[in-house]
Amino acid sequence: MSTYLVFGATGNVGRRVAERLARHGAAVRATSRTPDSAKLPPGVEVITPDLAAPGALDGVEAAFLMWPFHSARPAGPIVAALQRTVRRVVFMTGGDARPGLAPDEQPTPPARWHATVERLIELSGMEWTVLSPSTFMANTLWWSEQIRAGDTVGGAFGSVAMTPIHEDDIAAAAVHALTEPGHAGRRHTLTGPETLTQAEQVRVIGEAIGRPLRWQELTPADERARLLADPDFPAGFVEDLLAGYAAMAAAPPPVPTHTVHDITGAPATPLSVWAAEHAADFGAVPR
Ligand SMILES: NC(=O)c1ccc[n+]([C@@H]2O[C@H](COP(=O)([O-])OP(=O)(O)OC[C@H]3O[C@@H](n4cnc5c(N)ncnc54)[C@H](OP(=O)(O)O)[C@@H]3O)[C@@H](O)[C@H]2O)c1
Repeated sequence: MSTYLVFGATGNVGRRVAERLARHGAAVRATSRTPDSAKLPPGVEVITPDLAAPGALDGVEAAFLMWPFHSARPAGPIVAALQRTVRRVVFMTGGDARPGLAPDEQPTPPARWHATVERLIELSGMEWTVLSPSTFMANTLWWSEQIRAGDTVGGAFGSVAMTPIHEDDIAAAAVHALTEPGHAGRRHTLTGPETLTQAEQVRVIGEAIGRPLRWQELTPADERARLLADPDFPAGFVEDLLAGYAAMAAAPPPVPTHTVHDITGAPATPLSVWAAEHAADFGAVPR
């Protein structure tokens, strides 16, 4: 039986890819730096992410790859290790890497390093598919502490519009691309079903958890200070995040794609459903 490798299998998307493959009855090998606490489904083999280690890729037919690194430096060794054994790779890109631009033409460091990985994979000789998802709905968990504490969410760029996507829709698309023909050499742009500003996302979460919530606009300087006070937000990430919001504010609002439906046969999940699933994270009793 073919084995599927899931790199980053404890992450927002990787965990759901591993779970979906395991539910399909596939043999799954998953990576985590701490295999003992990975909490993946029974039967999933968990290894450390050293893909060059003896046996790491034995029997692996197809791999899901995401990029947890803050540079492209590990890309050469990781792609070289995959290339030796794996026939098909599905790479979840990020950093708003723009298709058609060379890595050194990309506008930001995250775009440059994701584009570098894309380029290496495309030249590797493996069958490749790139998944380019929009903003994850899970990013709204950054507001969970504020929502648990009160009825307002303070942040900058409340009018910035996004097409937030449920992580499980990305995982579903990834599993189709890993297990079925027809995705080789393709770059799928995946989005959620609706365009919502940040302020609208807060309102939708409030409706889903049964409490009126509202956005409170902060200046970018106040938002920077607020985020930097949180140890989960390293300085480099905060700057990239604020620069990303500023770029989005200057661009036309994004338009949802139909790609999740085209690939999976099911419509993309709205934020209201995701928020109801995560009600407990926002301090509400799930309905
Ligand atoms: N958030 C968004 O809105 C968004 C939108 C589009 C694209 N993206 C892209 O999605 C990717 C992040 O995906 P995600 O949110 O699913 O991941 P995540 O939840 O941040 O999880 C990171 C995963 O990578 C593993 N990991 C962390 N550091 C590692 C290291 N040094 N070596 C090997 N494995 C490591 C972690 O496993 P262990 O801790 O168990 O080792 C975990 O499984 C990024 O490329 C981002 O640009 C994000």
